[in-house]
Amino acid sequence: MVKIIYRQADGSEQTMEVAAGNSVMQGAVSNGVNGILGDCGGACQCATCHVYIGAPWQTLMPPPGEMEDAMLDSSAAPRLASSRLACEVCVTAHMDGMLVLLPERQF
Ligand code: FES
Repeated sequence: MVKIIYRQADGSEQTMEVAAGNSVMQGAVSNGVNGILGDCGGACQCATCHVYIGAPWQTLMPPPGEMEDAMLDSSAAPRLASSRLACEVCVTAHMDGMLVLLPERQF
């Protein structure tokens, strides 16, 4: 299991154990973390799983694919350099302790 820290916009945090191979979105939804909706079930179709990846992990993962990149442009909260769709970020062992910051809103 990989520890992922989900930080809400108000600064509160929840640390969850997420199985490698699951997405950051699945890790949030299955553990009841508020603020990541995942309305499309992880099909990269809704942008309600928008998150900001903390440093240094944002630079250690492959960049968004074409579809994710396009969907990020329609996210409700501002798009930043660290923006990702949580359903498109696959948890791996090297992400242990990764900080995931949630935007104030998803729609
Ligand atoms: S869950 Fe819909 S785009 Fe990520």
